[in-house]
Amino acid sequence: MVDEMRLDSLDGVGPVTTKKLSDAGIHNIMDLIVRGPVDVSEVTGMDREAAEKIVTKARQTMVEQGLITKDFVTATEIYKRRLDIGKIATGTECLDMLFDGGVETQALTEVYGEFGSGKTQFCLTMCVNVQKSKEEGGLGGGVLYIDTENTFRPERIVSIAKAKGLDPEKVLDNIIVARAYNSAHQTLILEEAGPIIEQHNIKLIVADSAVGLFRSEYLGRGTLSDRQQRINRFVHLLVRTAETYNCAAIATNQVMASPDVFFGDPIRAIGGNVVAHTSTYRVYFKKSGKKRIARMVDSPHHPEQEVIFTVTEAGVADPDDETKKKKKSEDSE
Ligand code: GTP
Ligand code: MG
Repeated sequence: MVDEMRLDSLDGVGPVTTKKLSDAGIHNIMDLIVRGPVDVSEVTGMDREAAEKIVTKARQTMVEQGLITKDFVTATEIYKRRLDIGKIATGTECLDMLFDGGVETQALTEVYGEFGSGKTQFCLTMCVNVQKSKEEGGLGGGVLYIDTENTFRPERIVSIAKAKGLDPEKVLDNIIVARAYNSAHQTLILEEAGPIIEQHNIKLIVADSAVGLFRSEYLGRGTLSDRQQRINRFVHLLVRTAETYNCAAIATNQVMASPDVFFGDPIRAIGGNVVAHTSTYRVYFKKSGKKRIARMVDSPHHPEQEVIFTVTEAGVADPDDETKKKKKSEDSE
């Protein structure tokens, strides 16, 4: 680790605090900023004011080194930072059109939809796509896959990679899978992700699903706000991590029908407003016979539109891929 990133290079952080922080997964100055003063005071037991001072100092240090942007920046600087935004192409014409080129870094993309609508298949496909070179629509980086439902399937990665002409073994090696057993563990995984993201040049973080565990653990109305707070914390951490490390984040979310909606689609994303307000992009997946519909919902700069896609051996695909293939073989006959 570079000396300037060491926790004990900050005033007021001695060996005892350093130990407490690293026990909580905060290993360097970058981690301090990602976690924020509330967490820092919680894990170290120091008062909020002292924690705020340390986090502020950490922030200043990073700004001085040019590693993060200042609190007050000119529009030019924001523009420059946005130029660093990478996009991971989806490998399909239809979804690339929906995403205006692909899934962006420095942002959270929430994919919500009913059971079997293709959320996990989309995530698995993106795990392969991100590894392609920039010229080929990827970011030449690895994946951190937080699997909360035990639905990560390496065999699917192998078949998607093969279909895209990539070496399946290499592709598998670049995916770090973290199986989360409960919601606290899921949050912990993300809190400790910093060094892994750097070591493995992670360019995509997947949380599949982001809210499922919270939902099953916090049943009943009494715990609703508690649940909401914890989901909130996880999702914010995900956004901050994506911004800090310039990676893309995809969170999947189940849906439930709300009987109190009489007009429009009675489907609401679980986790409610918290997830909706934090995600930069929200995409709704819906089954429609064998095909699937993806709709961009309240994005800051995408038009609200729908496209049709399918799921095949090769992951998510354009709807006419199969018909095209059939046609080709007929033509050659
Ligand atoms: P939940 O996690 O249950 O909410 O659903 P999900 O939205 O994650 O669904 P998922 O992405 O797992 O989609 C499952 C569907 O993808 C299956 O019902 C199949 O239709 C399709 N699928 C999965 N694998 C393959 C495959 O190898 N070939 C083809 N053609 N389709 C597949
Ligand atoms: Mg799934």
